[in-house]
Amino acid sequence: MFSLLAANAQDYSSFHPGEIWKDTDGVPINAHGGGVLFYNNTYYWFGEYKNEKNNSAEHGVTCYKSTDLYDWENKGIVLEVDPVGSGSEIEAGCIIERPKVIYNEKTRKFVMYFHLELKGKGYDAARVGLAISDHVTGPYKYIRSGRVNPGKWPANMTTKQRESKITSSDVEKWWTPEWYAAVNNGLFIRRDFPTGQMSRDMTLFVDEDAKTYHIYSSEENLTLHIAELTDDYMDYTGNYIRIDPAGHNEAPALFKHQGKYFLITSGCTGWDPNPARLLVADDIMGEWTRYPNPCIGENSETTFFSQSTYIIPVQDKKDAYIFMADRWRPKNPVDGRYVWLPVFFNEEGMPFLDYQEEWDLTVFD
Ligand code: DGJ
Repeated sequence: MFSLLAANAQDYSSFHPGEIWKDTDGVPINAHGGGVLFYNNTYYWFGEYKNEKNNSAEHGVTCYKSTDLYDWENKGIVLEVDPVGSGSEIEAGCIIERPKVIYNEKTRKFVMYFHLELKGKGYDAARVGLAISDHVTGPYKYIRSGRVNPGKWPANMTTKQRESKITSSDVEKWWTPEWYAAVNNGLFIRRDFPTGQMSRDMTLFVDEDAKTYHIYSSEENLTLHIAELTDDYMDYTGNYIRIDPAGHNEAPALFKHQGKYFLITSGCTGWDPNPARLLVADDIMGEWTRYPNPCIGENSETTFFSQSTYIIPVQDKKDAYIFMADRWRPKNPVDGRYVWLPVFFNEEGMPFLDYQEEWDLTVFD
């Protein structure tokens, strides 16, 4: 006779994109919009703890740990929201999305950034939240939230764009060619200059030289930014750039391969999937060039019914990266699925994604 636990316990040896993925207790993994930190020979997957009803954060950010990327042990809620009525910025009922954690070797702190929306305010706050811990599995202490780089201009914005007098009242109608041109020329950057730039979908990237960057959808989700963090990862240096202005990118996931930077993003269609995009640069601070959808084959036009969240460099394998994406289920968010696929490279060294119903890490050998 099997015990219930033994009957449910999982021991995977392959990935099954889009299927229910159970942790080592046999419970479906609840870590959406996630990212993975490799620390001390172990992978740590951080993500949004979702419920069955809506997208609000009732608990916080979860963490799972694994040494093989297939089997994940639940380490629980590592950043807890504050109780209802506390009035805190992370009161239960706020929105916490796309948490990412990095480790700072100098301060020996684990640093978590996430997209924060204040309770009852929809998606208007557009803030980045910051939390830290001495231990990878927490508890993480909430530090603050805010917009990014108030009073600072992006390095790649021209003097003419900075000094333009065009404001939203000159181009009231959105989505017209004039409005796109105005956005492209920094309409929202100028609007938000005093209070800081909006920050919604986001990721973090630690470069080989230890310089670290926050990549986020800004300017009403119209333009991505890359902002350099200070050495302790607790603030911004003020150095930042705009990428693909007015290009409407969300869900940034960045990796570096053979000296080139690759950014996979999505368009902006709420919870509905859309074609992924690929942006490429020789220098993380630009220039970035946009390429077509890196997905090929059936359902490539919906990124295989998913949206990017992170790209995991696989340890001890050469040129091995896993594209990590979410298949959202907004009517029952907790049932959202994970779509993990190997990143392949074509003869020109450009990454592409081809759907695999089931695959394992030997694909990289
Ligand atoms: C798409 C984003 O990528 C998600 O993280 C979430 O913010 C939804 N939009 C909300 O509609």
